[in-house]
Amino acid sequence: MVKYKAKIDSLGNYVPKKIVNNFDLEKMVDTSDEWIKVRTGMFERHFADETEAASDLAYKAAENAIHNSNTTRHKDIQMIIVGTISADHPFPSTACILQNKLGLKDIPAFDISAGCTGFIYAIDVAKQYIENGLCDTILVVGVEILSRLINWTDRGTCVLFGDGAGAAIVKRAESGDISQIIESKITADASEWDLLQQKAGGSRLPASHETVDQSLHSVYMEGNKIFKHAVKSMYNVTMDVLKKHNMGVKDIDWVIPHQANMRIIESLADKLKVPKEKVIVTIERFANTSSSSVPIAMTEAVKSNQIKRGDIVVLTAFGAGLTYGTLLLRY
Ligand code: ACO
Repeated sequence: MVKYKAKIDSLGNYVPKKIVNNFDLEKMVDTSDEWIKVRTGMFERHFADETEAASDLAYKAAENAIHNSNTTRHKDIQMIIVGTISADHPFPSTACILQNKLGLKDIPAFDISAGCTGFIYAIDVAKQYIENGLCDTILVVGVEILSRLINWTDRGTCVLFGDGAGAAIVKRAESGDISQIIESKITADASEWDLLQQKAGGSRLPASHETVDQSLHSVYMEGNKIFKHAVKSMYNVTMDVLKKHNMGVKDIDWVIPHQANMRIIESLADKLKVPKEKVIVTIERFANTSSSSVPIAMTEAVKSNQIKRGDIVVLTAFGAGLTYGTLLLRY
């Protein structure tokens, strides 16, 4: 039984300073600005410098989210959940390193590996802890340094990714609060898990000279097969969530889809019959930042006054696993 409702209290983001645009990529691999723009909608992406790891980006986004909250101080945070596939280390978790950077102690901290759906998965878990009364303030972060996982000899993937972090303070909604997470659904269809993976570096294929020589520590993706799953899975899970509350597409003020490909975003909007003015798009500036793409986009939309308190927002994503999920909330 749900005792309480959860809400997104505040958001924050951080992208590294270095910007790499399509013309820079033209000098590095056999590609063109035109191909990247037409096929993906991307123009720029931010890359971390060699001193930065995922927890550094996560820390800056988290501080930004805390700063943007009127009611949350560091000591109020009771749990840290980080969605990432490019953690500082295979272990410990990036969430634990983040806990230390934030000067916090004695609270649970863990990572979630759900590819680009990582932030949605993490919010869904935070929501359960708040709804059953075990916590009232949780820090959720999506963070990636995918530039470290790029195979620069594979032009089909190397142009797609960027680095960044997005954070949210998830809190218990008080009576009279306009904001609340209305519904969430996370799921996965692993029948084709092998379409998107980092082949080496785990217990299946530990790191060796051969795995490094064969670039098996970078993103392996069968892009056009993933493409077909993407629209269908985000559409289905979004419709499930809306139907559960007898809501329709007409009730939605904003859709924030995972920023993987402009053509995927447009196909999803067409299928949902949502006008493009209601779809938040940041892909041109940040490219695909995996689990941080949705919270980065939402933070930008709140900063630019597009999304306002009380607006009905759908956040939806798909990613490695293949995972997918949707959050329906009143901001
Ligand atoms: N520059 C120029 N040409 C290229 C490039 C490039 N960077 N990459 C591929 N091409 C060429 C190919 O070689 C191919 O040439 P050919 O026709 O002569 O063989 C042609 O372009 C078409 O290649 P496709 O792979 O069929 O291109 P497609 O239109 O499918 O676009 C893309 C590829 C952008 C990867 C698209 O399939 C996509 O976005 N897929 C979904 C990716 C995604 O959403 N991933 C999930 C999240 S990622 C995560 O979880 C970490």
